[in-house]
Amino acid sequence: MKTEKQTPPASPTGAPGKGAGPAKDDGLSRRRFFTLLGMGVGWGGFLATLGGTAMASFRYMFPNVLYEPPTVFKIGKPDEFGMGVDTHLKKDRQIWVVRNERGIYVLVSICRHLGCTPNWFNDQQRFRCPCHGSIYDIEGNVKGGPAPRTLWRTAISIDPVDGQIVVNFNQRQDPDPKSTPEGLIVNEASREDPPYFLQV
Ligand code: FES
Repeated sequence: MKTEKQTPPASPTGAPGKGAGPAKDDGLSRRRFFTLLGMGVGWGGFLATLGGTAMASFRYMFPNVLYEPPTVFKIGKPDEFGMGVDTHLKKDRQIWVVRNERGIYVLVSICRHLGCTPNWFNDQQRFRCPCHGSIYDIEGNVKGGPAPRTLWRTAISIDPVDGQIVVNFNQRQDPDPKSTPEGLIVNEASREDPPYFLQV
């Protein structure tokens, strides 16, 4: 028996052998691709916005704060400081505590030239700055080098409750020195007044 040969259906363009099925699939998968891409972009934007908001909230909870040491602080009782220069607070508090026959004063350990930290040499009874060679005596007078003024002294007082010395680091004595052949000098008697001197 003779069977009829089946001819494939013509495509819309009329091209023989090309069916409508695969072309439809191509269109569908392209549409699907662009739909997914659009969804991806949308979700990406949404998540980015959400992340930004979360970051902003986090930053709000931890604001930029500069932690600086307090400028008013206690350093112990007067009898804890012996005669001469006590250097143990230089690193943490930038001060030297000095006791003479009449009482206690506190020098700021910042060079008056450009702000370096001098060192105390007990054998020479001098503060010497390692940066440019300024030299100060135990009272803070300038005995050599480029420093234009004497060392600062801070305001000090006694806490009435616990008897400790209270240092106000930012309240400083800074009298005009006299230029003499021995250096830039301030009359010591004029400096030993409250709040820059404790008679103890
Ligand atoms: S900073 Fe001290 S001598 Fe210059």
